[in-house]
Amino acid sequence: MSAAGEAETELPLLFQPITIKGMTARNRVVVPPMCQYSAVNGRPNDWHLVHYGALARGGAGLIIAEAMAVEERGRITHGDLGLWTDELAGDMTRLIEIMKRHGAVPGVQIAHAGRKAATQRPWHGLGALNEDDIARGDVPWESVGASPLPAADGWLVPRQLAEAEIAGIVQAFADAARRAHQVGFEALEIHGAHGYLIQSFLSPLSNKRNDGYGGDLRGRMRLALEVTEAVRAAWPEDRPLFFRISSIDGFEGGWEIDDSVVLARELKALGVDCIDCSSGGNSASATASVIPRSRGFQVPYAAEVKRRAEIMTMAVGLILDGKHAEEILQSGDADLIAIGREVLYNPFWAVQAAQELGADTWFEMWPEQYGWWLDRRARSIRKYGL
Ligand SMILES: Cc1cc2nc3c(=O)[nH]c(=O)nc-3n(C[C@H](O)[C@H](O)[C@H](O)COP(=O)(O)O)c2cc1C
Repeated sequence: MSAAGEAETELPLLFQPITIKGMTARNRVVVPPMCQYSAVNGRPNDWHLVHYGALARGGAGLIIAEAMAVEERGRITHGDLGLWTDELAGDMTRLIEIMKRHGAVPGVQIAHAGRKAATQRPWHGLGALNEDDIARGDVPWESVGASPLPAADGWLVPRQLAEAEIAGIVQAFADAARRAHQVGFEALEIHGAHGYLIQSFLSPLSNKRNDGYGGDLRGRMRLALEVTEAVRAAWPEDRPLFFRISSIDGFEGGWEIDDSVVLARELKALGVDCIDCSSGGNSASATASVIPRSRGFQVPYAAEVKRRAEIMTMAVGLILDGKHAEEILQSGDADLIAIGREVLYNPFWAVQAAQELGADTWFEMWPEQYGWWLDRRARSIRKYGL
C-alpha cells in the first residue's frame, strides 16, 4: 500500500519494458514483419514512411519491419524492399528515424524467397505471375530452391541450388545483416518460416536433396544454421537476433514441433535470442491455411518451444485484444506478443490495449499531440454520461 493508502498498481506485463541484450523496448507489443508489396526496385517510399510512422506512434515496443530481400532474386514480389546493396540499405534511414522518434525499437526481417520468388502481390492474386502482371511490368525471374519442386501447381519450378552456390546465399544474409546494423536497425530477424528459402530447406516436403544440405534433420537444418552463424558474426553481439520458424508444416510427413524444438536448441547455441513461432506456408502462398484457426492458435507452439528449448519466444497469430495478450504473458507461454493484422486495422492497438488493461488512465502513452485532447474527451464522456 502507498502512503495514501491506495493499492500500488503494477503495470500489466504487456506494458512492462523488456531488455534483450542491449535492446530495451518500452513494452512487449511487437509489430511482426508485414510486407507492404509497395517498394519500387527494392526501395521504400512515402507509403512505408507513413506506415511505419503510424505503427510507431501507435505504441508498440518493437517493430520488425517487413521482409527485406538479401538478394534481388530472393524477393517474393516486385514490391519487396531490399537490403542487397549499401545504397538500398541507406534508403531505410528515414524509416528507422521515424520509428525511433515515436519510441519504437526499429527492427527488420531479412529474407530470401527461394521457390516462392516472383509471385503476385496479394491484391493481384498471390499466385504465379501471369500475363496481366507482365503487362503491368511485373516480369517473372528465375527462382532457386532446395529442390526443383514448385510451391504449387502452375508456380515457377525453381532451379535447384548447387551445393557450391549455397555459400553465396549465406554470405548474402550476412551482408544484409551488416548493412542493417550500419544503417541503424537495432533488432534483426532471420526469416526461417513460411516456405521461403530457409524453411524450404528445413521441410522434408520441399527438400529432396541427397547432398549435405538434405536428407536427415541435420542435413536439412544445415542452411538455417550456417545462415544464423554467419549473421550472428555480422550482427553486433549486444543486439538481439530473432529467428522466425514455421513451428509445424501442418501436413502429413512434414516438419513437426519436435523438429522445431531441436532447431531452437541449435539456434540458441549459435546466439539466437528469441524464436518467433509462426506456422505453415510450406507450399502455395504464405497465408494458405491448413492449420485450424482460432484465437492465438500458434501460442501453444511458442509455449512448447520456450519450455523445451529454454529460449525466449514470441507468440503470433490471431491475438486480438490486450486481455488475451496479457494472459499469454502471465501464463509464461511467451515473452513477446506480436500483433499483425490488428495493427493494420487499428494502428493505435497498443495504446488502446494499455487503456483496456488500466495501464494508461490519463492517455500518457499516446503522442502528446493527441493525449491531452483524448484525456479531456474521456472526462467529457464520463461527466455527461455520453
Ligand atoms: C500484409 C501482411 C504481410 C506479411 N508479411 C510478412 C513478412 O514480411 N514476413 C513474415 O514473416 N510474415 C509476414 N506476414 C505474417 C505476419 O507477420 C503474421 O505472422 C501474421 O499476420 C499472423 O499474425 P496476425 O494474426 O496478428 O496478423 C504478413 C502478414 C500480413 C497480414
